[in-house]
Amino acid sequence: MRLLLLLAAFCVSATVTASTPRSRPAPARVVAPILTGPDASDIQTYARPEIARVTHVALDLNADFETHRMAGIATLDIRAAPGAREIILDSKGLEIQAVTGPRGAALPFTLGANDETRGQPLTIRIGTARRIAIRYRSGPDAEALQWLTPPQTAGKRHPYLFSQGQSILNRTWIPTQDSPGIRQTWEARITAPVPLKVVMSGERLTPNGVAAGPGRRAWRFRMTHPVPPYLIAIAAGDLAFRPLGRRTGVWTEPAMLDRAAHELVDTERMVEAAERLYGPYRWGRYDVIVLPPSFPYGGMENPTLTFLTPTFLAGDRSLVGLVAHELAHSWSGNLITNANWHDSWLNEGVTSYFENRIMEAVYGRARAAQEASLSWDEMQAGLRELGATSPRTALHDPSDEMDGGSSGIVYDKGAIFLRTVEHIVGRARFDAWLRSYFDRHAFEPMTSARFLADLRANLVRGDRALERRLQLDAWVYQPGLPDNAARPDPAAFAQVDAAVQAFNAGGRASAVPYQGWNWAERVRFIKALERRQSAARLAELDRTFGLSESGNAEVLYVWLRLGIANRYDPVIPATEHFLLAMGRRKFAQPLYQALMREGDWGRPIAERVYARARPGYHSVTTGPIDRIMRGQSPG
Ligand code: BES
Ligand code: ZN
Repeated sequence: MRLLLLLAAFCVSATVTASTPRSRPAPARVVAPILTGPDASDIQTYARPEIARVTHVALDLNADFETHRMAGIATLDIRAAPGAREIILDSKGLEIQAVTGPRGAALPFTLGANDETRGQPLTIRIGTARRIAIRYRSGPDAEALQWLTPPQTAGKRHPYLFSQGQSILNRTWIPTQDSPGIRQTWEARITAPVPLKVVMSGERLTPNGVAAGPGRRAWRFRMTHPVPPYLIAIAAGDLAFRPLGRRTGVWTEPAMLDRAAHELVDTERMVEAAERLYGPYRWGRYDVIVLPPSFPYGGMENPTLTFLTPTFLAGDRSLVGLVAHELAHSWSGNLITNANWHDSWLNEGVTSYFENRIMEAVYGRARAAQEASLSWDEMQAGLRELGATSPRTALHDPSDEMDGGSSGIVYDKGAIFLRTVEHIVGRARFDAWLRSYFDRHAFEPMTSARFLADLRANLVRGDRALERRLQLDAWVYQPGLPDNAARPDPAAFAQVDAAVQAFNAGGRASAVPYQGWNWAERVRFIKALERRQSAARLAELDRTFGLSESGNAEVLYVWLRLGIANRYDPVIPATEHFLLAMGRRKFAQPLYQALMREGDWGRPIAERVYARARPGYHSVTTGPIDRIMRGQSPG
């Protein structure tokens, strides 16, 4: 059963000193191993790392807000098998102007056939060159990048740029091997127009930037740990910073700074709690940036600088589970990374478990139990939707269309898997194992097979009765839910569930103690209501609880879903406002989908709103919604 995984022979050595044509001696750089074996191979990359691989990326780019392009030079360090004479990179829409080797000698290159998702292979005849320079610019529609006009920002006066690399979008602005199993160190020098500030997912070397010609400043960064290239990220705009703790702080537009800092007061405590659980935070600073509302995800775990949606700003710190989640990725995902996106549960599932443990440590068991219970409900809904026998409900997703976490299954089922193991072996033993797992495999790629081999070698240790009780292979490779699953605490929502029963039986909204509830209780209540509601009952709910005016995006979202499913006209203004105000895919996609399902009532609304909202959305959000509007499945 255990797959023997060999490290590619030429990259076994732990450190190398890259040969450099510059005068300054190059620092010793860590070269991370690459896994070989069928379970580790990545069908989303053109790279052939066993022949030649990138170990370091140095970017020297101008952010051009006029043409919406990143333009300049990427210098790549390469390790190659003996005799290797070419390297294959990933490219999507990049305009390659020249590739040169030592002493500026031109190297021949070809761009192969374009694939709609993967882009094009960029094959370079490197000969004996092991450091190459690529002069290029990104296409004007690079999917990783969103260039915002001043009206799309909070301050309304300056443009803004941010990137989103996961899963395979960074190849639209960085010519490298865009695979999570090919870790690379990196450095960057980015110029941007005054007065914009540039931040990236690495150490900031120029706190205030340095002059770089008329009206521009240059900003330098470096990442000395090898990271998967989807974690290289950039944002530029009118940014302000406020410290939150010793090594934590928040970046955002000045107009957002007070609100953001207020919401994030517990960030340093979260880092401390995470370290107590599973070992040292190894990335130096933990800063976050609260982005404009078109950011297509809740959060993105870019190292040293988590990217966050402003939709988590509820005013009462209720949605900071998002921060716990992105912080947890500093271990699960960023230290240990899925080797390919079939195993994204190793990133997202382990992180969702870890997130809940941080929430428990910082906010107590009751709150964590409620969030775990909501996650259980999400998983059940996912299983129902996909069908519990669908192979897509296995944690290891064998399908070719996997995209690394768009299906909620890997989050919730992954977390419940680890919770199940925790309950069976006991928390102390489980925690000791998980912590040692992070230490053993830090800065390495991971597969399901390797994960299970580690768990068997270091936790099960040949105990056959325990092995039978755990059902490890069923959890990872089989669809549906194994019968040993640790169930949520039924007491978590006891009061809410009683209120739901009473309301569903005809009770009044005014008898529901809604105002005393937290967001999780409110969401649980709204989701548990009978799906069919009369307009009168919906009006009663809205009037009594102020649902359409809710400042909590999670509560507002489940309310709008309920209203739309009942073709309840009074929720349309709030729906329209919400869809115009933010572009987070998790909220936008299902709302358009729900409207489109309501035929002649909903389709015209969806079309009208989308026509206005689409120009403000990121490509991650428009991609699936475009398909929905054409009557196709979101894909
Ligand atoms: N890494 C993901 C975001 C992601 C997933 C980007 C798949 C591209 C493909 C991030 O950590 C995440 O999971 N974000 C969630 C929030 C979380 C609390 C579940 C989100 O964006 O909603
Ligand atoms: Zn995540």
